[in-house]
Amino acid sequence: MTKRLIRARLLTFLSEPRAPDDHASYRYEEDGGLLVEEGTIRACGSHAEVAPAAGEAEVIDHRPHLLLPGFIDAHAHFPQMQVIASYGAELLDWLNTYTFPAESEFGDKAHAARIARCFVDELLRHGTTTAAVYCTVHPQSAEALFAEVYSRELCIIAGKIMMDRNAPPGLTDTARSSYDDTKALVAKWHGQGRLHYAITPRFAVTSTPEQMEMARALVAEHPELHLQTHLSENDAEIAFARALYPAAPDYTGIYEQYGLLGAKSLFGHCIHLSEREADALSAAGAVAVFCPTSNLFLGSGLFDYQRYRKREKPLRIATATDVGGGTNYSMLRTMDEGYKVIALKGEKLNPLASFWQITRGNAEALSLAARIGTLEPGSDADFVVLNARATPAMKLRMERAQTLGEELFILQTLGDDRAVAETYVAGKAARPSEWQTAGQTTATF
Ligand code: GUN
Ligand code: ZN
Repeated sequence: MTKRLIRARLLTFLSEPRAPDDHASYRYEEDGGLLVEEGTIRACGSHAEVAPAAGEAEVIDHRPHLLLPGFIDAHAHFPQMQVIASYGAELLDWLNTYTFPAESEFGDKAHAARIARCFVDELLRHGTTTAAVYCTVHPQSAEALFAEVYSRELCIIAGKIMMDRNAPPGLTDTARSSYDDTKALVAKWHGQGRLHYAITPRFAVTSTPEQMEMARALVAEHPELHLQTHLSENDAEIAFARALYPAAPDYTGIYEQYGLLGAKSLFGHCIHLSEREADALSAAGAVAVFCPTSNLFLGSGLFDYQRYRKREKPLRIATATDVGGGTNYSMLRTMDEGYKVIALKGEKLNPLASFWQITRGNAEALSLAARIGTLEPGSDADFVVLNARATPAMKLRMERAQTLGEELFILQTLGDDRAVAETYVAGKAARPSEWQTAGQTTATF
């Protein structure tokens, strides 16, 4: 097995940074060495410490770039690659006008396979090595994504959407078929390589009470699995969900009624939660997923990150792109917009906390911190190598940067895929060198 010694400036977080000068929360090596073998980090330290154990290892020198654990995207829709950048609608119109028509094509295996390949390419070009992904209602879409990800050795959480109402014919399953298809996909893919299955009822609006009962049964039968869904994103969506489930005390209460709140439950958006709802999520250890570019683009609202973190019963929070409601695959762009959303709420998110969030913070929120999100020996060897001088504007700005925090903030504010010098998956360089359009047809307008 190939052994690699990777030399770079190294940054890994030990705990959530509480302030811009919380130096105890991270480990930084100016001349660092990372020894990698069989997809695993064997040693992490200064180059001088690690090099003697490297023996005949292949040496890769990324200096002066900065190496961090690979970015983690806690919520994205791979079938929405051709929905991203669709003009002029709020959530429910956007779903009906753009998203459902695009998702209808994923019964076609070849189309699903092509978009799955493009999606993984985009993740890796942007330095993202793990994502929690929604497929469409078609089991073929999940088959396509899992097959692609398995062959490329990524750690992914994904599931087929369960959706049996309020969507066009051809894009719905039934309560029974959603249960059966989910069971079959779990049996085939969960635990293969680094794949994790997520039970995925799209949201309360598109599931009947019978389907919610099936989701309850799946969670009860598979407590080891994640569950992902949407919650409290948009005023019209909230009113619709509440009208469909009048017995529930509020939107969160719908999922609660069906036993869907738990420590592996990931709730996309959570913008308009009452204190009762936040308490219920907190008590269950459930995760609120902040999707800033999506929330701004769809005009959904401003997620109150610091209110949720600092309340007496804090919420677990992850951050995510929500492609294609979200407008960029980059977790750097995501945190830049996140910073602005938090600023509009009168708070700031310091750059250390921001990079903690998209590495170790998201790994903890996804209950995967034992394997990813850090450079600790024993972790999976997934990293991103960042160049803070990747563009002329970044280079000029970096002339005045004096601290690691400033460098991180420049990367977040000005950076995107151009700042990703390399992405490693299971110890191997994996960033696609160019965009492969996989059978692109010509435009016809
Ligand atoms: N709510 C239900 N489905 C979706 C979706 O695909 N995107 C977003 N942003 N919200 C949703
Ligand atoms: Zn979503």
